[in-house]
Amino acid sequence: MTAFPAIELTVYPYDCDAFGHLNQAALLTLLERARWDALARGPGMDLFDRNGVWPAVRKTTIEYKAPVFARDVVRVETTVLNRGTTSMTLHHVVRRVADETVAAEADIVFVCIDRLGRATPLPDEIARFLGPRSGGSDAPLRVPSGGVELAVDVRGDGVPVMFVHGFPFDRTVWRHQLATLSRARRIAADLRGVGGSGGPPLPVPSPDRYSLAQYANDLVAVLDAVGVRDVVWCGLSMGGYIIFEVVRRHPERVKALILAGTKADADSSEVKRGRDELAALAERDGPDAVVERLLPRLLGPATRAAQPEVTTQVRDMGRRWSVPALVGAQRVMRDRPDSTETLRGVRVPTLVLVGSDDEVAPPVAARAMAQLIPGAQFHVVPAAGHLAPLEQPLATGRLVADFLSLLR
Ligand code: MLT
Repeated sequence: MTAFPAIELTVYPYDCDAFGHLNQAALLTLLERARWDALARGPGMDLFDRNGVWPAVRKTTIEYKAPVFARDVVRVETTVLNRGTTSMTLHHVVRRVADETVAAEADIVFVCIDRLGRATPLPDEIARFLGPRSGGSDAPLRVPSGGVELAVDVRGDGVPVMFVHGFPFDRTVWRHQLATLSRARRIAADLRGVGGSGGPPLPVPSPDRYSLAQYANDLVAVLDAVGVRDVVWCGLSMGGYIIFEVVRRHPERVKALILAGTKADADSSEVKRGRDELAALAERDGPDAVVERLLPRLLGPATRAAQPEVTTQVRDMGRRWSVPALVGAQRVMRDRPDSTETLRGVRVPTLVLVGSDDEVAPPVAARAMAQLIPGAQFHVVPAAGHLAPLEQPLATGRLVADFLSLLR
């Protein structure tokens, strides 16, 4: 959960300029008041005083987006963008409560100073209050969940989108979308045991620590950590299966769905047998063997012929899975329920997309899935196999951006 609760404040006539607009100085005052109110509701307004330090503002960047008038009520939402050793950056979003319009966004960098004005490390109590720390602007956030720490990328502002990767990939499968969807707040986590995320603790790294419920809860913990309530869930293949579980367990966290290369039905007994074989292969020969077994079915013929770097990336992503994570994920998928009824009950905007040459979740299965969801859009991405976001990033990005532009 973000350390700072959202705070609602009324704009007074004396906060406004001659045109009746909230003026710049008053906006800064409102942000400051919101921060003190948040402390008052949490650890207390003396949090800094009692630790012998002070948060000095070092830099403020504000983007004004829409006017606010006297008597408007604004809501200030605050998240911790970065926490360093001696500094922290807070991100404020100011919304007009009446119509949810974003009026302004501000990033404020604070340095923790001692009584002599020297930069000093954030005391433990304050660091705990601020929550997870990132090691730098490009380093992933570390979010604790269910006994592990997850690696999470958070980029940009706008409608929040949580990207969920499939098997055996990691959050970099979304690298084009993370780099380009500039009007969205892009959030992408490595699943437990994958890439930069830790696996369940030793001494026994048991695959039983993997379940659809645990994957779903991990991702909701990420939303809590970055201070977002509901998001657009964008999942690829197994990422879709996990999102179906989020829809069942946490429907209040779902603003919209983007389902890529995934399907609603459970596995046939033949597919289940194949999963057991793949799990045994992982235990015997490790991640490389798993990727080599899967590769021929993952990429479309056009990608295999013209984009060798995509094949290289798939191999790299597979190598970043631990063996327990490979085995655990295969068991989770083998035992997953049929999601037909879940999807019939979906009442949020949905985009379904699939590569024209997807052999794992063929267009016919993706279309059938789209038909279960009232009002869902359905698109086939030409010249792509199972990994449309990576194989055809431009076409996929355009579909996703158009869909997001329809959401507020
Ligand atoms: C995936 O891409 O996540 C997997 O291929 C899904 C599956 O094996 O059903």
